[in-house]
Amino acid sequence: MPVPAGVICRVVSMLIVRKTAGVFAKPPKRNVYGFLRSLRVCPGVLSPPKLVLGIETSCDDTAAAVVDDTGRVWGEAIHSQTEVHLKTGGIVPPVAQQLHRENIERVVEEALSASRVSARDLSAIATTVKPGLALSLGVGLSFSLQLVNQFKKPFIPIHHMEAHALTIRLINNVEFPFLVLLISGGHCLLALVRGVSDFLLLGQSLDIAPGDMLDKVARRLSLINHPEYSTMSGGKAIERLAKEGNRFHFTLNPPMQTAKNCNFSFTGLQHVIDKLIERKEKEEGIEKGQILSSAADIAAAVQHVTACHLATRTHRAILFCKQRELLPPANAVLVVSGGVASNLYIRRALEIVAKATQCTLLCPPPRLCTDNGIMIAWNGIERLRAGLGILHEVEDFRYEPKCPLGVDISKEVAEAAIKVPQLKMTI
Ligand code: KG4
Ligand code: ZN
Repeated sequence: MPVPAGVICRVVSMLIVRKTAGVFAKPPKRNVYGFLRSLRVCPGVLSPPKLVLGIETSCDDTAAAVVDDTGRVWGEAIHSQTEVHLKTGGIVPPVAQQLHRENIERVVEEALSASRVSARDLSAIATTVKPGLALSLGVGLSFSLQLVNQFKKPFIPIHHMEAHALTIRLINNVEFPFLVLLISGGHCLLALVRGVSDFLLLGQSLDIAPGDMLDKVARRLSLINHPEYSTMSGGKAIERLAKEGNRFHFTLNPPMQTAKNCNFSFTGLQHVIDKLIERKEKEEGIEKGQILSSAADIAAAVQHVTACHLATRTHRAILFCKQRELLPPANAVLVVSGGVASNLYIRRALEIVAKATQCTLLCPPPRLCTDNGIMIAWNGIERLRAGLGILHEVEDFRYEPKCPLGVDISKEVAEAAIKVPQLKMTI
């Protein structure tokens, strides 16, 4: 609804006194002047920006945020379950569900109050509905549908991986098409992004995701018993520990070296690492639960082999896209996102690939790589702008625990059997 110009003074003073609510609420990135710029000026009237509330509960983070159609973040809140799941040795779905139930109302309220808006001011509500843990998705969806019905708002169902892929456009002015590598605890895929909901899937993990493998290695190394690493996600703990280690002390071979496709695999590698840890435990004569003296060297070798595996497959995907003219020959954009993309060593490996192929590597800041509400709200804005998937009728709407991303052309990629030139991975 257009705002009369006279109201602007009140809006400005309200924004000046705005405080960030709650312990987990993060301050919004915009300022008063940014807000004023975002108001579209017509003679005598100002139309307010469109606001979308994003809600994320697909895995182990309960998150919410409000973002406007200029990409400004008005406020966000997040409740992470990481510490609880570290204690149980992995995510137990009913526990995750219970924690989402206990926190969702507070998290959404905090995101709205940090944004100084009420649900009435929203243009739409966007929620992750696929893929993810069924019990977790269900909590976010039913809470969102209550809000949708109560405030009579349009509903925008969000694909979690689409949201990770588009996050970069909130920060950088990236045009379609671009290549994206999505690496998290539940996913590992390479896709060409041609539009907001137009993806070509080039390859994906045939078994577990890299974040899952790193979490398992961290558990196997008993990092939960280390005072410095006990509260970190496995991947983050491995990155920190690897800084203290020497990757050359152990040699681990990247998986699938002879398969000339863009798929990934981490289960075999994880078995090899398990065996290595078992052997070192015997050699050092340590009990289960104690930390190996060679843990940092193992972490460094694991991180290096993971980076190399991700780099080779990404290199092949770039060459394939250029060969098929799906990406421009120079200055193509490679985006890396998802929780594992917050790893700076892995980013540097991908930087080497980007340099060798004249691509520009772009990664969202680490806090936007891991699950958050901003990426869901932003995906809602992208869909709102494109007029895609905005529902006004939500009766019988269902979440989907499994849902592929885009059109799968991974067989075509494998048939092309592109040989990847060896790059010197001096990271
Ligand atoms: O995207 P995300 O927050 O949730 C999923 O959708 O899975 O990713 C979580 C995953 C976890 O497996 C975690 O260990 C990993 O991302 N991760 C990292 C780092 N920070 C989080 N992996 C490597 N290095 C990190 N710094
Ligand atoms: Zn994720």
